[in-house]
Amino acid sequence: MAHKICFINQKGGVGKTTTTMQTAAYLTTKKGKKVLMIDMDPQGNLTTCVGVDTEGENTVSELLLNEAKFEDTIKTTPYGDIIPSDSALGYREMEISGKVGRELLLFQALKDKLGAYDYVLIDCPPAINTFTYNVFMVADSVVVVSEVGLFSARGCGKMIDTVRQAVGVYDRDIHIAGILFTKNNHTKLAREIREQVELVSNEYGVKVFETLIGTFPAPVGESQALCKSLFDYAPKHKVTAQYAAAIEEIIEAVAEEE
Ligand SMILES: Nc1ncnc2c1ncn2[C@@H]1O[C@H](COP(=O)(O)OP(=O)(O)OP(=O)(O)O)[C@@H](O)[C@H]1O
Ligand SMILES: [Mg+2]
Repeated sequence: MAHKICFINQKGGVGKTTTTMQTAAYLTTKKGKKVLMIDMDPQGNLTTCVGVDTEGENTVSELLLNEAKFEDTIKTTPYGDIIPSDSALGYREMEISGKVGRELLLFQALKDKLGAYDYVLIDCPPAINTFTYNVFMVADSVVVVSEVGLFSARGCGKMIDTVRQAVGVYDRDIHIAGILFTKNNHTKLAREIREQVELVSNEYGVKVFETLIGTFPAPVGESQALCKSLFDYAPKHKVTAQYAAAIEEIIEAVAEEE
C-alpha cells in the first residue's frame, strides 16, 4: 500500500511545494521508490517545478470533475509521476464545490489506482478549503511545513486543530508525522519562535523534526527555475544535506505509523 503524505500549511510561501518536490526527488532518485505527486494547488507551482506544461493537457481539475480518467491525467517526470494542476483548478472551484460528495472527489478518482506506487505526495494550497478536505480524505500522514516566523508558528496550532477535526468528522486515521521548519536563519528571534512552536507541539503531542532547513534562496530558487531537484542541481550544498536529513526523518515517521 502506498504511503500517502500531504504537505500542508494555510500560510503561503513557507516551503510546502519545495519540500514536496525534494521529497519526491529523493525517494525516486536516491531510494528507487515509485512516487506519485499530486498538485492540489491552483497556483500549479509543483507542476511547474517538475517541468510539466499543462497547456491542452488534462489536470487534476478534469480528474476531480470526472472528465478524465486517472491514467489520462498522469504525467511522467524525472522525480516521479504527477497529476498536474493549473489555474483551472481555481476558476472551476465553484463547480467542484457544487458536486455531491465534493470532499470525496479525489478519493474516488484514486480508488484502486495507487497499487503501483510506494509513495503518494500531495502538495496543498495555502488555504483550508474543499481541495484541502479532498486531501484529508486521502492522506494517511500530514507534514506541517512551517517557515520560522511568528505567524507561521501560530498557524501550526490552527493547522493541527483542523487536521484533528477532519479526523473526527471524516472518521479517518490521519497521523500528523511532524512539523518541518524551513527558512531558518538562526537569529535569536528564530530560536524563540522555535521554542514557541515546540510548546505548541508538546501541547498537541506533535513532533518537530530535528532537522531545520536553512534559508538559501540561490540554490533553491535556481534549481526550481531549471526544474531540477537540489540533489541534482546542488548535491554538495548545505541545504541539500539538510533536505536529505529532513526527508529521512519524514520517511521514518511515516514508517512508524504502520
Ligand atoms: N529553504 C529555502 N531557502 C530560501 N528560499 C526558499 C526555501 N524554500 C523555499 N524557498 C523559496 O520560497 C518561495 C516559496 O516556497 P514554496 O513555493 O515551496 O512555498 P509554498 O508554501 O509551497 O508556497 P504557497 O503557499 O504559495 O504554495 C519560493 O520562491 C522558493 O524558491
Ligand atoms: Mg506551494
